[in-house]
Amino acid sequence: MNILILGSGGREHAIARALAQSPRVTKLYAAPGNGGIAQLAECVDIKATDIAAMRDFAVANAIDFAVPAADDPLVLGAVDALESAGIPCFGPNKAAAQIEGSKVFSKDLMRKYNIPTAGYEVFDDATAALAYLDTCAIPTVIKADGLALGKGVIIAQTRDEARAAVREIMLDKKFGAAGNRVVVEEFLTGPEVSVLSFTDGKTVVPMVSSMDHKRALDGDEGLNTGGMGVIAPNPFYTAEISTWCKDNIFTPTIEAMAAEGCPFKGCLYFGLMLTPAGPRVIEYNCRFGDPEAQVVLPLLETGLLDIFEAVQQARLAALNITWKDECACCVIMASGGYPEKYSTGHAITVGDVGGAFVYHAGTKLVGGEVVTAGGRVLGITATGASLQQAIDQAYAAVDNITFDGAFCRRDIGQRALNA
Ligand code: AMP
Ligand code: GLY
Repeated sequence: MNILILGSGGREHAIARALAQSPRVTKLYAAPGNGGIAQLAECVDIKATDIAAMRDFAVANAIDFAVPAADDPLVLGAVDALESAGIPCFGPNKAAAQIEGSKVFSKDLMRKYNIPTAGYEVFDDATAALAYLDTCAIPTVIKADGLALGKGVIIAQTRDEARAAVREIMLDKKFGAAGNRVVVEEFLTGPEVSVLSFTDGKTVVPMVSSMDHKRALDGDEGLNTGGMGVIAPNPFYTAEISTWCKDNIFTPTIEAMAAEGCPFKGCLYFGLMLTPAGPRVIEYNCRFGDPEAQVVLPLLETGLLDIFEAVQQARLAALNITWKDECACCVIMASGGYPEKYSTGHAITVGDVGGAFVYHAGTKLVGGEVVTAGGRVLGITATGASLQQAIDQAYAAVDNITFDGAFCRRDIGQRALNA
């Protein structure tokens, strides 16, 4: 089979590596891919958001199956475009991708179908939003409705911060049309859990749980990032909580999407917070998490291509998906300055990484040499019988990798170890 993966991050490298293990895969393409994916796939220079070019490439190159892995192409309708050209895909269509593409859509869905989430109000008018902020509980959470490169959520500790966030989003249009509406949400507390799931619109199969580390610096200090490291499984997510979430969150969400006429097929990501009052949905993503995919997929025993096809053909219920009884840790090595300004083009030197695997995120090949090309550069992943072993192996590998300005958090997995 000829397979096309759309995207360029560590997540796409993890998907490519898992797919490459299938003997049925004859040729992998990635658009645009990165310096690591290039070792497994032919990288083609098409932006993941250029849907028409992607479809034309897929048709011209006899692609048998496509995997749009990032949020923007999915929300823009990559699956609709490819499937109407006769190319089966793993991923939600445009209507179903709204679950991530519009916070208002997802909050209203949860309210309508009684799925536990933070209380909220929606505003399409800045004056009304600002008036509401005079009296609402503080801290509060301001969310731009649309996609905003993961930066559209502001936790406001004071009324002034909340007002500034609403002004930036709604009046200054910091995130463009994504800020035409905002959600003002109740501030919740508790450990966060990422649960990715496979779903074909009828059956939902949760994957191994994980814990992302979103802040840039040790001790959960500094700015929010795309994720600086992740471990799996998440020790806060007990068997009892997982059963509760399946019954009260996962299955109801799949049924709600079907009832709304937009059944969700693909990977549905549940971002949960385990609050003192019980689990709540913080966000849905319409795709694998990044870096969550880099720890979850290495623990998967079942072939990823078999699962993707079962999802696409809506026969997931008949598949038995199994997992390794191990732990995994991924440490992100980022460019100095990330998530703000950073420089790129620095050579990367990878020494002995033992049993760890180096997922590439922001890298590219220049004249046969791998150089930095983004904020999150590499995701160093190790698995082990215990979480401590996985963490130790990942950091041992990190210590043998260098590039100018490299930094990483040194405490990935510590909160989980102390749980
Ligand atoms: P998101 O961009 O939706 O992933 O949100 C980024 C982060 O903001 C989440 O991972 C949470 O840590 C935090 N967050 C989002 N919504 C809330 C909320 N209602 N209460 C507390 N923290 C939140
Ligand atoms: N790691 C969080 C995300 O992929 O959205």
